Amino acid sequence: MLQLDNVNIGYGDVQVVWDLSFSIEKGETVAIIGANGAGKSTTLKTIAGLMKSIGGSIRFEGIELMGKSTPDINNAGISLVPEGRQIFPNMTVEENLLLGAYLKRARVHRDKTLVEMYELFPILKERRLQKAGTLSGGEQQMLTVSRGLMSLPRLIMLDEPSLGLAPKVIDLIFDSIQLMRSKLNLTTLIVEQDVRKALRLADRAYVMVNGRIVKEGLSKDLLEDPDIKKAYLGI
Ligand SMILES: Nc1ncnc2c1ncn2[C@@H]1O[C@H](COP(=O)(O)OP(=O)(O)O)[C@@H](O)[C@H]1O
Ligand SMILES: [Mg+2]
Repeated sequence: MLQLDNVNIGYGDVQVVWDLSFSIEKGETVAIIGANGAGKSTTLKTIAGLMKSIGGSIRFEGIELMGKSTPDINNAGISLVPEGRQIFPNMTVEENLLLGAYLKRARVHRDKTLVEMYELFPILKERRLQKAGTLSGGEQQMLTVSRGLMSLPRLIMLDEPSLGLAPKVIDLIFDSIQLMRSKLNLTTLIVEQDVRKALRLADRAYVMVNGRIVKEGLSKDLLEDPDIKKAYLGI
């Protein structure tokens, strides 16, 4: 479904991602794991068209995304849920959700999708008329994820959904991602520093170090991999 070939990315003259190649099949959940600064967010931003790559190819369902604008990439069926819960604090929960359905192809299904989101995250239904800025951190993260889903993506990319949340809330978020995955038939690319959580959720993972993929495999194998255990799982 998504295929990156030899993608190089930089900020100005400083290259931060080298020869990135990986792929995701339809229906898979794939994780990119790695320490802070490895280049994970940069990778997601480039797929979403928020940054230009220096070279290489990014194909989605056979279509080249390089050179396409973010709205076009969105329209092709890719949604990025960015790091850091970027909600509109002075708008209500429901207004935030409806904004997610701004694309024409999503707008026509908006009311139905909204009902689905409220089924997935009942707490958002309870809070629907509340200003989004008054939600707890975990609720704001649920709102950010469901706003991304309101655009009816076929591929959803989640950037550090657990960042800054308490352990109990992180469990809740990962449970809802699991639920979303089984209910909505989505393909998911997740980036996480919480490696154990990411590997428990994902089918497969790529390990990124200093802008390069250094290892890949099935999550269940990586969870048992001595190098991974030592470097990321604190065992
Ligand atoms: N806006 C930016 N300008 C310059 N360098 C950046 C910018 N954002 C990130 N970087 C650098 O790019 C590298 C990769 O960052 P990032 O993709 O955010 O890593 P990760 O998401 O894995 O923590 C880091 O060295 C970081 O300092
Ligand atoms: Mg990041």
